Amino acid sequence: MKKIFAALFIAVLVASCCGQGSNDIGYVIKDNQIVYNTPPRPAGQQSMLKFAAEPIEHVRIGLVGLGDRGSGAVHRFPYLEDASLVALCDLFPDRVEKAQKILEEHGAPRAKYEFSGEEGYKQLCELEDIDLVYLAVPWQLHTKIAVYAMEHGKHVAIEVPAATSIEECWQLVNTSERTRKHCMMLENCCYDFFELTCLNMIQQGLFGDVVHVEGSYCHNLDPYWDNYQGDWRMKYNKDHHGDVYPTHGIGPVCQDLDIHRGDKMDLLVAMDTDAFQGQVRAESRYGAGFGKYANGDNTCTIIRTRKGKTILIEHDVVTPRPYSRMYQVMGTKGFANKYPNEGLALGSDEVKDVAYDDLDAEEYMSDAQRDALMEQYKHPIAKDVEELARKVGGHGGMDFIMDYRLIYCLHHGLPLDQDVYDAAEWSSLVELTEVSINHGSMPVVMPDFTRGEWDKLEGLTFAMAE
Ligand SMILES: NC(=O)c1ccc[n+]([C@@H]2O[C@H](COP(=O)([O-])OP(=O)(O)OC[C@H]3O[C@@H](n4cnc5c(N)ncnc54)[C@H](O)[C@@H]3O)[C@@H](O)[C@H]2O)c1
Repeated sequence: MKKIFAALFIAVLVASCCGQGSNDIGYVIKDNQIVYNTPPRPAGQQSMLKFAAEPIEHVRIGLVGLGDRGSGAVHRFPYLEDASLVALCDLFPDRVEKAQKILEEHGAPRAKYEFSGEEGYKQLCELEDIDLVYLAVPWQLHTKIAVYAMEHGKHVAIEVPAATSIEECWQLVNTSERTRKHCMMLENCCYDFFELTCLNMIQQGLFGDVVHVEGSYCHNLDPYWDNYQGDWRMKYNKDHHGDVYPTHGIGPVCQDLDIHRGDKMDLLVAMDTDAFQGQVRAESRYGAGFGKYANGDNTCTIIRTRKGKTILIEHDVVTPRPYSRMYQVMGTKGFANKYPNEGLALGSDEVKDVAYDDLDAEEYMSDAQRDALMEQYKHPIAKDVEELARKVGGHGGMDFIMDYRLIYCLHHGLPLDQDVYDAAEWSSLVELTEVSINHGSMPVVMPDFTRGEWDKLEGLTFAMAE
């Protein structure tokens, strides 16, 4: 009798835990692991690895979402030579007018088209004379609008995270593969100077084999919660466990590990604290009787890759602490750390060409040595545009380098630096971490958005015109 009850209990548990059947995008629980399915590629679709579209002489941009982040982009776009902002859209018409004023202040022409309201984005996407839809709307709208834009023949660039569920990740991949339109997530942290230089050093062997990397988004959002239109951000955190904002942490370190360019994120485990401070913040906002705030104050995620490397990602937006967008690289021959101070520790053999013979990988090198090395190994894409990027700004210049590279590649008809698989893999952590936590931190076998092609490319490259 006991055995029958046990079998029944397991059957009910499996049925209630399974996301979907084995032939679709959901998961099953097998041998104490949550196993996500990778569905076969539908007929008529092709891989977007190294996809290059026809060159675009002058890129016409339509921007949807003119809040904090969108208006920042309006300030930057006038500095892009081969692009113009021709269409603007926000829920509120006054935000559109404010954006027009920003363009005027920069001496740029006003955008030709203006749209507003919940569905104004549809008219923007349907325009014949735009090439790129750039999205800076709340997370929950990213995929819906991006899919609509690609269906209407536009390339898309989407703020972070590009998607909030595995289903949305697959929608982006499938739509991009079917329509042959670029779908890039705007992960700006991949373009920060320290990260880019370290990537260059890694690719030139200064760190030996990179074995472990760390990334984080630890930023107390207390002063900002009121700024998000319709309270979208606090609401999302209130309702969800997991690392809901993983891409600043995971993006740069995935590039260091050549994820889907020779390696693959395989197994993930996430764990969070209770919502100590989150609950307090939410109660002060919604009143004591509102219920339970879901998102743990701190969420840690560990991922093991197919080639035996590990990644640690951290998220914390509620505790009072110094800002940290940690970026840490541990290799067989060296170490780099970005927060709280940028530091490099490399053995002298690896840097003998710079003539430092007193270096030891177990100690940080001096600031002067670090700066000289950073200068010497500056990434070519940062070198090209550094002066202008620092002048235009946007997180110290990285936002401008990101926009510049996006337009450069579209203009020259080159593959973009970040493809739709990056967007899906990095954003997939939103759901995968939540599912792991909801099952007592059970390991999750991650889906493969490239559908078996993760080792086809040999390393990450940044396309340059002849
Ligand atoms: N990469 C970064 O460093 C960075 C920094 C901040 C924000 N972000 C991302 O940018 C996005 C926007 O964040 P934000 O801080 O600007 O939020 P926000 O609330 O300030 O702005 C969102 C804007 O979208 C508009 N909007 C809402 N629904 C719309 C619709 N249906 N059609 C058109 N417009 C609509 C709102 O009116 C608002 O102006 C988010 O994805 C966020 O994660 C990224």
